[in-house]
Amino acid sequence: MTRRPLLAANWKMFKTVAQSVAYGRELIRRLETSAGLDAVDVLICPTSLSLWPLAQRVAGTAIRVGAQNLDLGSEGAMTGAVSGYLLREAGAEFVIVGHSERRQYFEEDDATVAKKVQAAIQAHLQPVLCVGETWQERQQDRTVEVIGRQVASALEGLGPEQASRVVVAYEPIWAIGTGSVPTPQDANQVATAIRRLMPPDIADATRILYGGSVSPKNIRDFACQSDIDGALVGGASLEAGTLMAMIELMVS
Ligand code: 13P
Repeated sequence: MTRRPLLAANWKMFKTVAQSVAYGRELIRRLETSAGLDAVDVLICPTSLSLWPLAQRVAGTAIRVGAQNLDLGSEGAMTGAVSGYLLREAGAEFVIVGHSERRQYFEEDDATVAKKVQAAIQAHLQPVLCVGETWQERQQDRTVEVIGRQVASALEGLGPEQASRVVVAYEPIWAIGTGSVPTPQDANQVATAIRRLMPPDIADATRILYGGSVSPKNIRDFACQSDIDGALVGGASLEAGTLMAMIELMVS
């Protein structure tokens, strides 16, 4: 089974609308002279405010746009909420669900994450389901147990066709924004364990990303692992030139 590599950028709470559009323009310019997009899917997840203008800017190219979060429901009297349906209408094709920052700062538990995965699929968005262990859990040798619980809970109740829409991102919490990373072999072992948890019919086709302090220095080492199909990148995705370098390293 050949899975198409995916490089996903999570901009978190960075970049104004104008900066997002300028980045889109710059990335298109750089990609014109690169074979990168023939071999790698590129996904940019800006803030919700920048979704529509960025999606408009990259329309007609192979660059995809995604959201970083969704709220439950579709439309209604829900002050401040943004549903998957609205994100989809604004140009998102993917949505990050269950990022550790959402779990930590917005108190999203496994049950909420599962509801959001279902809401994303209902809205015809592809969820990028984030899972990962704390440093303490890793020290206690509980990584696979913790990730197993997170994956099983998020996929519960999904049929194989629905589960086939899910991209999984393995992001060890201790590696996010710290410069510390697991060895690529370690990360691959966890990715293999995640693949075994997927419904058998779709396990081989599921894309599993690694995330946490990915940069041009290490992306190739992660992306070449047998069960890792790309990366979810935070800080190093904020410069178009650095993202471009990572795209090229993935295909070289
Ligand atoms: P960094 O690449 O900045 O470590 O962030 C990773 C991340 O959280 C992507 O979702």
